[in-house]
Amino acid sequence: MSDRPSLARSREELVALLAPARAQGSRVGYVPTMGALHEGHASLVREARAQVGESGRVVVSIFVNPLQFAPGEDLDRYPRTLEADLDLCAAEGVDVVFAPSPEEVYPGGVAAGETSETTTVDPGPLATQLEGRVRPTHFRGVLTVVAKFFGLVRPDVAVFGQKDYQQLVLVRAMATDLCMGVDVIGAETVREPDGLALSSRNRYLDSEQRFEAASLNLVLRAAQESAQWGQDVALESARAELRRTKGIDLDYLEIRAADLSPLPAEVPEGTEARILIAARLGSTRLIDNLPITLGASRAPEAQEGVR
Ligand code: PAF
Repeated sequence: MSDRPSLARSREELVALLAPARAQGSRVGYVPTMGALHEGHASLVREARAQVGESGRVVVSIFVNPLQFAPGEDLDRYPRTLEADLDLCAAEGVDVVFAPSPEEVYPGGVAAGETSETTTVDPGPLATQLEGRVRPTHFRGVLTVVAKFFGLVRPDVAVFGQKDYQQLVLVRAMATDLCMGVDVIGAETVREPDGLALSSRNRYLDSEQRFEAASLNLVLRAAQESAQWGQDVALESARAELRRTKGIDLDYLEIRAADLSPLPAEVPEGTEARILIAARLGSTRLIDNLPITLGASRAPEAQEGVR
């Protein structure tokens, strides 16, 4: 195991730990997390390292952000595993871990879904769609904390997982629209051998739910494999796969443009799009998505023989 990374608990400690890197003109790569780190996070750290090189500094933040949870969501039971997280960061060669308290991040006060601070980030209309229909205040919380952390870390590049695809799109839009000067990279989703996307919430699943959770990826892959016949066929293939599952309570299953804008009924051959799913297994809510390349929609008779 490599040396433990330097641990900053306060804003001042973080700024002091990064000062030498800034003085030397080293690049800073940043991976924001809520902890409970797993191989998916490790792959984000490796991407950050690849972006900044050996002379750069890689910073990971570990903070369960109350503002992005609604009252009644899993804020209190969200796993907090700092010692194991520091071990993973050490093994991946992270230079600095920033693990602040809620008071440090929100001196004005914070609770689930609310803060008494005056300024928060308005994530715009996309934040009311897909995840936002079920979690209307979620992305305001995400963008507000990411903006705070960008301001403190001042990274050259920040790496987010594609598993939270809507989050990635919104963070990228914020960085561009608010001229934050951060290059936002989306790293590929890491999966279990049966296709389940790694997530800190997978640990809530019992063995039956864990078995069934792999179906989410099968549903998305059914769409991916039939996307050449157009979006209607792709969506119907996904729905057919979903009908074969048990115990999955669907929130949404949608095909959107790569920037998550709604797609018109007819799209040109080769349109790059995204299929996204959110579903509950018992009380656990999981999300996943895949890129799909759409063929032009065909007349129904041309679709015969396609499941
Ligand atoms: O994806 C996450 O873990 C969180 O939403 C993030 C980006 C760390 C903000 O709290």
